[in-house]
Amino acid sequence: MGRLSAKIAAVTGAGAGIGLAIAELFAAEGAHVYVTDIDGEAAAKATADLAAKGFSATAMTVDVSRGQDVSHLFRTIAADKGRLDVLVNNAGLNIRADFRHLSDADWTRIREVNLDGVVRVARDGFELLRAAGAASLVNIASLMGHQPVRQVAGYAATKGAVAALTRALAVEYAPYGIRVNTVSPGFIETALTERVLKNQFTSKALLERAPLRRFGAPVDVARAALFFASDDSSYVTGAELLVDGGMAAGL
Ligand SMILES: NC(=O)c1ccc[n+]([C@@H]2O[C@H](COP(=O)([O-])OP(=O)(O)OC[C@H]3O[C@@H](n4cnc5c(N)ncnc54)[C@H](O)[C@@H]3O)[C@@H](O)[C@H]2O)c1
Repeated sequence: MGRLSAKIAAVTGAGAGIGLAIAELFAAEGAHVYVTDIDGEAAAKATADLAAKGFSATAMTVDVSRGQDVSHLFRTIAADKGRLDVLVNNAGLNIRADFRHLSDADWTRIREVNLDGVVRVARDGFELLRAAGAASLVNIASLMGHQPVRQVAGYAATKGAVAALTRALAVEYAPYGIRVNTVSPGFIETALTERVLKNQFTSKALLERAPLRRFGAPVDVARAALFFASDDSSYVTGAELLVDGGMAAGL
């Protein structure tokens, strides 16, 4: 029996990268997974791949920065299942810029997806999570919220806010049986980090700083999300787990 067998889960930004790895691991552990992404084709492909492996999943096009998309997602889950056991706020993006040149448009987009999207999903998903009796909300923040590199100030601000929001919601949602935790990845090999990690000099400098001497794989983050999603963490709420190869611990 899987660690999430008979559970209903939803993951945002699950068409690629870390979100996809989370959806795959959750489905392999027995959950029915709502694979949602702004890129509907990517969500549909991921869902078809899961179905081909005999796993259970539903694809939905959801842009977390659009209130109507998020409402549609939760209305659909309410009608189909009537509850949600696990909800992962994974969708996120970064637009790198020197802070003094960060345009209003770029800052707005970073904030709309990374923070407003997380707020909206965590708020509008409440009733379905409560209906589960014992549920888990997992927010994906970032090492950058603690130890930023250059040109990520806007992104770092949203991720620090997500970690703070997690702690506040852990307190507020606990009476309703909903645990709320954060997974904060370090440098994980996905499209988001491709440009930085493909740069020989940056990549070498970063690896020298990583005690485990490698970048992370999406599944490394998915395993941490599984811990928070499953009953293995039934006495854990308001926690933040860094999945960063030891980078935050020191040089
Ligand atoms: N890769 C890393 O090193 C790293 C490190 C720390 C934190 N993170 C966080 O992990 C999460 C996933 O990142 P990733 O590396 O897998 O990125 P990615 O770019 O590989 O995948 C992100 C996915 O989110 C989707 N998405 C983008 N905007 C969206 C929106 N408005 N609504 C719904 N979906 C949207 C994209 O279509 C894509 O499928 C993000 O929150 C990111 O900030 C990543």
